[in-house]
Amino acid sequence: MAEVIIVHSKNDATKLAANIFVDVVRQKPNAVWGLATGSTPVMMYKHIANIVANDKIDISQVQGFALDEYVGLPKGHPESYTNFISKNVIKQIGLNPRKVHLPSGDMKYLATSGDDYEVKIKAAGGVDVQILGVGTDGHIGFNEPGSSLASRTRIKTLTEQTREDNSRFFNSIDEVPIHCITQGIGTIMDARHIVLLAFGENKSDAIVKAVEGSVTAASPASAIQLHPHVTIIVDDAAASKLRYRSYYKWAYLNKPKWQGI
Ligand code: GLP
Repeated sequence: MAEVIIVHSKNDATKLAANIFVDVVRQKPNAVWGLATGSTPVMMYKHIANIVANDKIDISQVQGFALDEYVGLPKGHPESYTNFISKNVIKQIGLNPRKVHLPSGDMKYLATSGDDYEVKIKAAGGVDVQILGVGTDGHIGFNEPGSSLASRTRIKTLTEQTREDNSRFFNSIDEVPIHCITQGIGTIMDARHIVLLAFGENKSDAIVKAVEGSVTAASPASAIQLHPHVTIIVDDAAASKLRYRSYYKWAYLNKPKWQGI
């Protein structure tokens, strides 16, 4: 079972996640971070930047691989994930831009960009720790319901629900691209440790399906049940529909210190 940690605030959750990311670098200076976009991890990146600055952590060798990118947005578009990662990760935390990668959403390279990205991740030695958010429809990365649980990086078509959810970042839903390129569920599952964050009542259905539902392509986040090392950090609202939430709280309260996260 995945470890489920239920905390009172987004601040507590993202601090915990940030410490997991930095601890990996303390143990392995050339660690490979798996990076997510969306609103969920924004505060975590801030906490990482603070810890790195305060504790003078050397992150010069850290590599980063983003989960996904929209297809066809013009270069430099403010809502491109390239721009998000540049602002929240490269500039804010101070990662070397040459060591941070995203799959290319440029139409010119679409035929090969999925396979190229897989090769790059492999050459870096694989992802040590992957941060994930979850869509209201249960997507991870941009793997929409119906995605193969063994899928690799490829082009996908966004659901209307995801386009609607993400339209808050654009002027209108018509500006939200229809296609994207995303690490597959199989790619994500290769990460050695997965940390999934979710906040708010509108994520409670996706969380209960991911943690306690059947493992099914209809709920892509449920694939994490098959991973040996997953940490799910949620607030009370996102955890509100979990049947065993009092057990998860009890287990965390009684977690032996030596076990770590
Ligand atoms: C986006 C991203 C996902 C993210 C999810 C949730 O579309 N592709 O990686 O986890 O949707 O977004 P948010 O964190 O803004 O709720």
